[in-house]
Amino acid sequence: MCGIVAYIGKKEALPILIDGLKRLEYRGYDSAGVSVFSGGKIITEKAVGKVVELENKINGRDIPGKIGIAHTRWATHGKPSEKNAHPHCDCGKNIFLVHNGIIENYKELKADLEKIGHKFSSDTDTEVLAHLIEEYKKQVPIKEAVWRTLAHVEGTYGLAIIDRNEPEKIFVARNGSPLVLGVIDDGYIIASDIAPIVRYTNQVIYLEDGEMAEVTPCGFQVTNLKRKKVEKEISKIDWTLEEAEKKGYDHFMLKEIMEQPEAVENAMRGRLVVKEGMAKLGGLRDVADSLRDLERLVIVSCGTSFYAGLVAKYMFEEYAGIRTDVEFASEFRYRKPILNQKTAVLAITQSGETADTLAAIREAKNKGAMTLGIVNVVGSTIARETDAGVYNHAGPEIGVASTKAFTSQLSILALFTLFLGRQRDMSFVMGKRIAEELAKVPELMKKIFKDSQKIKKIAKKYSGSSDFLYLGRKYNYPIAMEGALKIKEIAYVHAEGYPFGEMKHGPIALIDENFPSVAIATRDSVYEKTLSGIQEIKARGGKVIAVATAGDKSIEKLVDDVIYIPKTLEMLTPLLSVVPLQLFAYYFAAGKGLDVDKPRNLAKSVTVE
Ligand code: G6P
Repeated sequence: MCGIVAYIGKKEALPILIDGLKRLEYRGYDSAGVSVFSGGKIITEKAVGKVVELENKINGRDIPGKIGIAHTRWATHGKPSEKNAHPHCDCGKNIFLVHNGIIENYKELKADLEKIGHKFSSDTDTEVLAHLIEEYKKQVPIKEAVWRTLAHVEGTYGLAIIDRNEPEKIFVARNGSPLVLGVIDDGYIIASDIAPIVRYTNQVIYLEDGEMAEVTPCGFQVTNLKRKKVEKEISKIDWTLEEAEKKGYDHFMLKEIMEQPEAVENAMRGRLVVKEGMAKLGGLRDVADSLRDLERLVIVSCGTSFYAGLVAKYMFEEYAGIRTDVEFASEFRYRKPILNQKTAVLAITQSGETADTLAAIREAKNKGAMTLGIVNVVGSTIARETDAGVYNHAGPEIGVASTKAFTSQLSILALFTLFLGRQRDMSFVMGKRIAEELAKVPELMKKIFKDSQKIKKIAKKYSGSSDFLYLGRKYNYPIAMEGALKIKEIAYVHAEGYPFGEMKHGPIALIDENFPSVAIATRDSVYEKTLSGIQEIKARGGKVIAVATAGDKSIEKLVDDVIYIPKTLEMLTPLLSVVPLQLFAYYFAAGKGLDVDKPRNLAKSVTVE
């Protein structure tokens, strides 16, 4: 969590830093701050809230300077306030730094430093770093002081540090929190991810854990914990600036919902071989033989990506015959997972940086299991640390609430089902059928968008409701959970996602005329059972919004409102049924004037445990 950006070069730093912070804001927006080397001094400005508050505070004031660091915060230690906003500094106000991550042993370090006279001005864990560097600097040069500090701390960090006495340098270091160094014509821009970098260059260097770079306007040198020089390769990024901008939509979230047909298309491009009823997944080529022998898959993920994993369980078990367990990454890593040579652990993650998912993958590796990833962000830590994997190619997802990454994940999971299934018992005929239906999904999604205004009206009709129950069975049970998560995240409305069959074991007690339900009632193998559940709600005076299959006129008599989706294979229904739920949550929240792209208390990339 948190976003950091730093610039060193020939241009004015402040505008680059502010622009960079705005692009990283989805990582947290509790406060923002900047420090710029200006006329031999370091000038720092901080403000509570979003980056725009920082801009208002600076209010056009010229802070000339060609080196600077900046931070947008998602609070962990210490409440959102100016004093807790980064950059933080030492007692002598020489060393300024920004930090993404958590220093776990900060309490002990702080107590030790206080004993020897250091005065702290914030409640953060980060500040100990500045004081420790200050302390070591009494004996050794700054670079070594940073190394000694890092050797002393436990936890995670992406760090950028400037020292008033070294006006031509920025030190950046990484352990567990991402850090990318962009190489531009006349300098360097360093950030937590490529979003602030992409408008200046497509040439980047990914720092690894345990590496530090000393960056000057004319060059950089990367060293490792042993103080040994590391040669780094320059990678090329393929996201354009335009892809990261709003394209005229009111919110990134709406733009990303509308981009889903393209995202699904991109996930399948060159991978779906309809004629052969097969999927070709280049990233799995090297492990294809081991996958043939696989007996069990454990999926680890968080949030929306977790629900993609739950859908995959139904797909893999039904069509590939592979036992699949889906686990919250945050639980998996603290359990005693039973893994063997015939088990692979699959991480599903948009960002590729989620701390719990990363830790789960590392734990699986320790235990000797094969690790796989379905990751959107190219070059992210999980993409690099897994043994093999598949990229989503969904383009940047900026809205904090995940939409297009989810349907992209479902598409890849469907491809993976084909891949694993055809290695096993799945017939050519079945493979071809799935492939043909999957190829049609982008066009079917577009049909749902034609009903956007109807969905908007329904959202308005229910705008007074403060609770919702989302219900679905089988493939649509995870979609009920995802629908509920969407409205919770962006509209701050209480919603529960439940398997429909379980409703009678508890949630039905909540039902009355003020507690509406959203029922996914598509024509599939559990349709009749779903209808019985809807009857049970209606019998208790509850209102029902149904997501139903196009042409199902009879359901209109039973429920209060219907949103139709086109017919597809049952296994692929989630790719369509989730779309109206995303739109419903979006219009519900946007109708109340809420900041749907940056919902309160959330962050897009959760790089803390
Ligand atoms: C955060 C985001 C969610 C996302 C989850 C997992 O909570 O707000 O939208 O689903 O992290 O993120 P990942 O990048 O691992 O998919």
